Amino acid sequence: MTPHGDYWALARTPQGWRAELAGAKTPQDWADTARALFGLEDAEVQQIADPARGIARIAFHRDGQLLAALFVSPRPVAVMRDYLAAQPGQNAPQILTGTSPADQPDPGPMVCACFNVGVNTILTAIETQGLLSVEAIGASLEAGTNCGSCRPELAALLQSTQTKEAAE
Ligand code: FES
Repeated sequence: MTPHGDYWALARTPQGWRAELAGAKTPQDWADTARALFGLEDAEVQQIADPARGIARIAFHRDGQLLAALFVSPRPVAVMRDYLAAQPGQNAPQILTGTSPADQPDPGPMVCACFNVGVNTILTAIETQGLLSVEAIGASLEAGTNCGSCRPELAALLQSTQTKEAAE
Protein backbone atom coordinates (compact mmCIF):
# COMPACT_ATOMS: atom_id res chain seq x y z
CA MET A 1 0.00 0.00 0.00
CA THR A 2 1.35 3.42 -0.95
CA PRO A 3 -0.69 6.10 0.83
CA HIS A 4 -0.26 9.74 0.00
CA GLY A 5 -2.40 12.85 0.42
CA ASP A 6 -3.16 15.35 3.16
CA TYR A 7 -3.04 12.87 6.04
CA TRP A 8 -2.41 9.20 6.50
CA ALA A 9 -1.40 6.87 9.29
CA LEU A 10 -0.27 3.36 8.48
CA ALA A 11 0.01 0.39 10.83
CA ARG A 12 1.25 -3.17 10.34
CA THR A 13 -1.26 -5.94 11.09
CA PRO A 14 -0.82 -9.74 11.08
CA GLN A 15 -2.65 -9.83 7.74
CA GLY A 16 -0.95 -6.86 6.08
CA TRP A 17 -1.52 -3.14 6.53
CA ARG A 18 -4.23 -0.91 7.87
CA ALA A 19 -4.41 2.82 7.17
CA GLU A 20 -6.53 5.81 8.04
CA LEU A 21 -6.48 8.43 5.29
CA ALA A 22 -7.92 11.91 4.95
CA GLY A 23 -7.87 14.55 2.26
CA ALA A 24 -9.73 17.59 1.03
CA LYS A 25 -9.90 16.66 -2.68
CA THR A 26 -12.31 14.13 -4.20
CA PRO A 27 -10.68 12.00 -6.87
CA GLN A 28 -12.41 11.61 -10.22
CA ASP A 29 -12.65 7.85 -9.84
CA TRP A 30 -12.39 6.13 -6.45
CA ALA A 31 -11.83 2.67 -7.95
CA ASP A 32 -8.81 3.94 -9.94
CA THR A 33 -7.53 5.75 -6.85
CA ALA A 34 -7.89 2.60 -4.75
CA ARG A 35 -6.16 0.50 -7.43
CA ALA A 36 -3.21 2.89 -7.40
CA LEU A 37 -3.19 3.06 -3.58
CA PHE A 38 -2.99 -0.71 -3.28
CA GLY A 39 -0.91 -1.33 -6.42
CA LEU A 40 -3.45 -3.87 -7.68
CA GLU A 41 -3.43 -3.58 -11.45
CA ASP A 42 -5.32 -6.72 -12.32
CA ALA A 43 -7.41 -7.67 -9.25
CA GLU A 44 -11.18 -8.06 -9.49
CA VAL A 45 -12.94 -4.96 -8.21
CA GLN A 46 -16.17 -4.83 -6.17
CA GLN A 47 -17.67 -1.43 -5.41
CA ILE A 48 -20.62 0.60 -4.28
CA ALA A 49 -20.69 4.37 -4.59
CA ASP A 50 -22.93 7.34 -3.97
CA PRO A 51 -21.04 10.29 -5.47
CA ALA A 52 -23.75 12.76 -4.40
CA ARG A 53 -23.08 11.88 -0.73
CA GLY A 54 -19.34 11.37 -1.20
CA ILE A 55 -19.53 7.70 -0.24
CA ALA A 56 -17.53 4.92 -1.89
CA ARG A 57 -16.60 1.40 -0.82
CA ILE A 58 -14.18 -0.54 -2.95
CA ALA A 59 -12.67 -3.99 -2.49
CA PHE A 60 -10.25 -6.04 -4.55
CA HIS A 61 -10.32 -9.82 -4.73
CA ARG A 62 -8.26 -12.47 -6.49
CA ASP A 63 -9.11 -16.17 -6.69
CA GLY A 64 -11.84 -15.73 -4.08
CA GLN A 65 -9.56 -14.02 -1.55
CA LEU A 66 -9.84 -10.45 -0.37
CA LEU A 67 -6.70 -8.44 -1.12
CA ALA A 68 -7.67 -4.94 0.00
CA ALA A 69 -10.59 -2.62 0.69
CA LEU A 70 -11.10 1.13 0.89
CA PHE A 71 -14.03 2.81 2.70
CA VAL A 72 -14.63 6.47 1.86
CA SER A 73 -16.94 8.97 3.54
CA PRO A 74 -17.06 12.73 4.10
CA ARG A 75 -17.44 11.91 7.80
CA PRO A 76 -15.42 9.48 9.92
CA VAL A 77 -16.12 6.09 8.35
CA ALA A 78 -18.48 3.93 10.44
CA VAL A 79 -17.02 0.45 9.98
CA MET A 80 -15.68 -2.30 12.27
CA ARG A 81 -11.98 -1.56 11.81
CA ASP A 82 -10.53 -4.48 13.78
CA TYR A 83 -12.77 -6.95 11.99
CA LEU A 84 -11.94 -5.50 8.56
CA ALA A 85 -8.21 -5.49 9.24
CA ALA A 86 -8.34 -9.27 9.79
CA GLN A 87 -10.11 -10.04 6.49
CA PRO A 88 -7.34 -9.85 3.84
CA GLY A 89 -6.52 -13.35 2.64
CA GLN A 90 -10.02 -14.60 3.48
CA ASN A 91 -13.01 -15.22 1.27
CA ALA A 92 -14.95 -12.07 2.21
CA PRO A 93 -17.71 -11.34 -0.32
CA GLN A 94 -19.62 -9.20 2.24
CA ILE A 95 -16.63 -6.98 3.03
CA LEU A 96 -18.30 -3.81 1.72
CA THR A 97 -20.89 -3.89 4.51
CA GLY A 98 -17.98 -2.94 6.81
CA THR A 99 -19.25 -5.13 9.64
CA SER A 100 -18.86 -8.69 10.85
CA PRO A 101 -21.83 -10.92 9.98
CA ALA A 102 -21.35 -12.76 13.32
CA ASP A 103 -21.67 -9.58 15.36
CA GLN A 104 -24.90 -8.50 13.78
CA PRO A 105 -28.29 -9.44 15.12
CA ASP A 106 -30.36 -11.34 12.55
CA PRO A 107 -30.83 -8.67 9.87
CA GLY A 108 -33.92 -10.42 8.47
CA PRO A 109 -34.78 -10.71 4.77
CA MET A 110 -32.68 -8.40 2.60
CA VAL A 111 -34.27 -5.11 1.63
CA CYS A 112 -31.26 -3.11 0.42
CA ALA A 113 -28.98 -5.38 -1.60
CA CYS A 114 -26.44 -2.60 -2.25
CA PHE A 115 -25.61 -2.23 1.46
CA ASN A 116 -26.77 -5.64 2.66
CA VAL A 117 -29.42 -4.22 5.02
CA GLY A 118 -32.29 -6.44 6.14
CA VAL A 119 -35.81 -5.69 7.23
CA ASN A 120 -35.14 -6.28 10.97
CA THR A 121 -32.22 -3.85 10.95
CA ILE A 122 -34.38 -1.20 9.29
CA LEU A 123 -37.37 -1.67 11.59
CA THR A 124 -35.13 -1.54 14.67
CA ALA A 125 -33.48 1.66 13.44
CA ILE A 126 -36.85 3.27 12.66
CA GLU A 127 -38.08 2.48 16.16
CA THR A 128 -34.97 3.16 18.22
CA GLN A 129 -33.78 6.24 16.32
CA GLY A 130 -37.21 7.68 15.51
CA LEU A 131 -36.50 7.75 11.77
CA LEU A 132 -39.29 9.44 9.82
CA SER A 133 -38.17 9.44 6.20
CA VAL A 134 -36.40 7.36 3.57
CA GLU A 135 -33.59 9.96 3.70
CA ALA A 136 -33.23 9.48 7.46
CA ILE A 137 -32.94 5.72 6.95
CA GLY A 138 -30.25 6.38 4.34
CA ALA A 139 -28.36 8.70 6.66
CA SER A 140 -28.45 6.11 9.44
CA LEU A 141 -27.97 2.81 7.60
CA GLU A 142 -26.98 3.85 4.06
CA ALA A 143 -29.92 1.73 2.82
CA GLY A 144 -31.48 3.31 -0.25
CA THR A 145 -28.54 5.58 -1.02
CA ASN A 146 -26.93 3.74 -3.92
CA CYS A 147 -29.11 2.39 -6.77
CA GLY A 148 -32.32 3.47 -5.03
CA SER A 149 -34.34 0.40 -6.07
CA CYS A 150 -35.16 -0.42 -2.43
CA ARG A 151 -36.53 3.05 -1.65
CA PRO A 152 -40.20 2.12 -2.28
CA GLU A 153 -39.78 -0.78 0.15
CA LEU A 154 -38.19 1.55 2.73
CA ALA A 155 -41.14 3.93 2.31
CA ALA A 156 -43.55 1.01 2.82
CA LEU A 157 -41.73 -0.03 6.02
CA LEU A 158 -41.95 3.55 7.34
CA GLN A 159 -45.62 3.62 6.46
CA SER A 160 -46.24 0.31 8.25
CA THR A 161 -44.54 1.50 11.46
CA GLN A 162 -46.42 4.82 11.37
CA THR A 163 -49.74 3.03 10.85
CA LYS A 164 -48.90 0.69 13.74
CA GLU A 165 -48.09 3.62 16.01
CA ALA A 166 -51.31 5.43 15.08
CA ALA A 167 -53.29 2.30 15.98
CA GLU A 168 -51.66 1.99 19.42
S1 FES B 1 -30.85 -1.86 -3.13
FE1 FES B 1 -29.57 -0.35 -4.05
S2 FES B 1 -29.71 1.29 -2.63
FE2 FES B 1 -30.86 -0.27 -1.71
